[in-house]
Amino acid sequence: MGEEALARPVLGMIGPTRRDKDLALAQALCEMLRNRILDGLWRHGEKLPGTRVIAKDAGVSRWTAVMAVDMLLAEGLVETRRRSGTYVNWAGAGPELRPSSRPAHGQSETVKPHAPFAVGVPGLDLFPMQIWRRLQAKRWRDMPVDALQAGHDGGWPELRAAVAAHVGSARGIKCAAEQVFITAGMHAAILLVSEVLCRPGSVAWTEDPGYFRTRTALKAANLAPVAVAVDDQGISVDDGRRLAPKAPLAVLTSTYQFPTGVTLSDARKRQLLEWSAESGSFILEDDFGCEARAPRAATLPLAAMSNAPRVVYMNTFTTTIFPSLRLSYLIVPRAVVDRFAEAVRRADRYATIPNQIVLADFMAAGHFAKHIRRCRDAYEERRGVLESALRDECPDVVAGPPLASGLHLCIRFKRRIDDLAVAAAAQDAGLLVDPLSRFYAGPPQETGLVLGFAGFRPETLREAAKRLGNVLEAFVVQPDRAAAGA
Ligand SMILES: Cc1ncc(COP(=O)(O)O)c(C=O)c1O
Repeated sequence: MGEEALARPVLGMIGPTRRDKDLALAQALCEMLRNRILDGLWRHGEKLPGTRVIAKDAGVSRWTAVMAVDMLLAEGLVETRRRSGTYVNWAGAGPELRPSSRPAHGQSETVKPHAPFAVGVPGLDLFPMQIWRRLQAKRWRDMPVDALQAGHDGGWPELRAAVAAHVGSARGIKCAAEQVFITAGMHAAILLVSEVLCRPGSVAWTEDPGYFRTRTALKAANLAPVAVAVDDQGISVDDGRRLAPKAPLAVLTSTYQFPTGVTLSDARKRQLLEWSAESGSFILEDDFGCEARAPRAATLPLAAMSNAPRVVYMNTFTTTIFPSLRLSYLIVPRAVVDRFAEAVRRADRYATIPNQIVLADFMAAGHFAKHIRRCRDAYEERRGVLESALRDECPDVVAGPPLASGLHLCIRFKRRIDDLAVAAAAQDAGLLVDPLSRFYAGPPQETGLVLGFAGFRPETLREAAKRLGNVLEAFVVQPDRAAAGA
């Protein structure tokens, strides 16, 4: 590791007592070191300079440097090796800087995917990497031969059981492990559902605005997505009935509609189940983001209702573990379990098994539930920070309180501002904002922005909100830039 001089912002901090002062200095130094690790300047496995060097470079006492390194140790970002020293123990760069994963919604492939406010990025800085690594290493030391074979129809049995237990306690869904099908992401799940439940060429309800990858997956399965309006109660069943009363499938987000954050109302749930019973249609319920925030009223998914024989439940580990794991799951009604198993076999739709085993261990040992609780608290804080920063930085632009899921905010503009132009200007300022209009299949009814907050630390969000405020200011003071389109 290079021993370049550390910057010295810590010198200016003087607290009221000696002890307070030492602690403040140590915290400031710890933050500086932490940023070096999270920003990828100090890489995983590299040796830290000794505390004597750190102290000298930062202009603090050795004792302060020791305290700062101890704080990093407690956070798990570094580890000590006996008689050798202290090493970086963080396998990924900070979430904002990781360049390798897929782009956020609606953005071009060339854009860095983890700039603030990328949507769908969970708090990767919160993920207990050490525990995962330990479980993974343990499993590979003693991997059952069975795990090396293909042919586990719905996934690794212990993971299917762990998922069934999780949705039972967390989402009120009563199901057996054999009803759980682990898939390699949502796209694969939608292909499987479409293949089993619909004839090629059929229409399927999708939400408008909605997740564009849902439409892409349905099209890939040779179905024709029909854009059904969403209002403040969720998907409009009247609109769906008007447009495609006999559609064999409706795909919708329920706890937090994507991207508006609206919760599907009880009245809409009843209407949906009535329609499903009348027309024999299936509902594919995407419960995306339900773990990230406690539901406003203790809303249960459709799949937890007793009279929901044609509801297939879908959820993902993208937001609760990490996106590159590529594991999602379906809970299918008992009556169609065999058809799903047969379709998995026929089209070789298996998801990789070794990761499923590690995930099963992670869940069985209680780490999953603990991680979700930790993320909820952090996301609550991050959401609050972003909401108040937007109030301060963009007071003239944002209409009403933003709607929030556990992972992003959906803000609407007070006046007609072209959100595509805002997104382009924001991109020049290093921000990845999703224009609301991009989520509409047809002409957008509203313009605004969808801003992911879960993956970004509070200080990053504050600073990014300031930059967004500057971007938006130009659209307010220069009416000619505020397009009439949208
Ligand atoms: C509405 C919605 N559903 C599902 C997913 C998860 O997709 P996957 O499991 O393929 O990562 C996302 C990802 O951002 C999403 O936005």
